[in-house]
Amino acid sequence: MPKSVYAGEDLSTHLGEVINIQENRRVLLFTDKGIESNGLVAPIEAYFQQHDIDYRIEDEITPEPSYVQVKELLEKVTTFDFGTIVAIGGGSVMDAAKLISLLRGAPYTIEDLLDNASIAKKQVPSVMIPTTAGTGSEATINAIVTIPEKQVKFGIVSSEMLPDLVLLDVNNVKKLPKSILAASAVDALSHCVECYTSKNATTFSNDIAKIGARYIFQNIITAYTDPDNVEARKALLMGAFYGGVAITASGTTAVHALSYPLGGKFHIAHGVSNAILFRQVMELNENVIIPQLASMADFVYPNNGQTGAKSKADFLISKIANIVKTVEIPTDLHKFGVQSSDMDFLVDSALQQTRLLDHNMKKLSRADVEGIYRSVLN
Ligand SMILES: NC(=O)c1ccc[n+]([C@@H]2O[C@H](COP(=O)([O-])OP(=O)(O)OC[C@H]3O[C@@H](n4cnc5c(N)ncnc54)[C@H](O)[C@@H]3O)[C@@H](O)[C@H]2O)c1
Ligand SMILES: [Zn+2]
Repeated sequence: MPKSVYAGEDLSTHLGEVINIQENRRVLLFTDKGIESNGLVAPIEAYFQQHDIDYRIEDEITPEPSYVQVKELLEKVTTFDFGTIVAIGGGSVMDAAKLISLLRGAPYTIEDLLDNASIAKKQVPSVMIPTTAGTGSEATINAIVTIPEKQVKFGIVSSEMLPDLVLLDVNNVKKLPKSILAASAVDALSHCVECYTSKNATTFSNDIAKIGARYIFQNIITAYTDPDNVEARKALLMGAFYGGVAITASGTTAVHALSYPLGGKFHIAHGVSNAILFRQVMELNENVIIPQLASMADFVYPNNGQTGAKSKADFLISKIANIVKTVEIPTDLHKFGVQSSDMDFLVDSALQQTRLLDHNMKKLSRADVEGIYRSVLN
């Protein structure tokens, strides 16, 4: 777990809890241009100015960053001597910032971490402020980077990257555009459902995943169709955080494994590629995860009116399919430039995601993986 977590509104006042206990009070404020232009960085800058905290803004990161980009950003900040990194943004910003917290002044490189992340040690304390709802990156021990030369995404995993402070500030998601909200919330939902149905699930991860799933299942459509409903958006922010904790305690499975090649080669946004595959993977897995799906259905929708575990499992999968449809995420891979001729690349690349596939309750064959991709290549 991150060392300290606050949820609410106007939470910048808590920043001092980490910054003020450092000998070096200078801050690297890490964000992207979309967040900045939406006015989300201004309250943090105001706090720094009021409290005489010296800071520099770094906003060059773009969505779904590559490890090369992280390396370039690290070089760019070498001349700035900072004692804390504060990241405000979605998963792309937070993942890059988490890596910089491990790499800044370290004797190893990002390439070394791609080979063996167990050598990582946190070099600079970090604060994570999510603005999507969301990846849950603020609570995970993963940073996902694209490897351009292999056209895949890869997760660097180290508990050293857990932040020192997390601020779940609802102000940051009030104006989150609908399409970004939709993709990131379905990503968060897939974290909860995959962790709950993972071979790696524990009592703790299940309790966390169930609560996260309830927040998201019950609020995602309201948050999407009624953008002024702050309570629904707040619930998604909470659900995404719980999803992140569930990932740390358990881990995602085949939805994410098959999603990575779609992000790596076709640059489909992470939440969108998960949404495309979510229902298909759950249907393929269903016969070995009926008890889990049924118990999640009962927890999230106590009045679901279904009798028998199989119909409850079907019910939950139909809710997933309905959510993806209602939040208007396109589910045909052709729309993203994927062709049947890409099949071998996709299947080979997905089968290499053993870190995730090993925890999928059903062992997926080559034919299973190909069948899933074909089912969304209409
Ligand atoms: N580390 C983890 O555990 C983990 C988990 C899931 C996903 N990820 C990674 O996170 C990345 C995706 O992150 P994401 O889905 O949060 O999106 P993102 O960070 O890529 O942001 C997408 C776009 O949304 C904009 N944006 C973000 N918040 C906004 C706001 N409040 N208002 C207006 N615009 C806003 C950004 O400027 C950006 O242009 C992927 O690289 C994915 O692999 C990491
Ligand atoms: Zn994800």
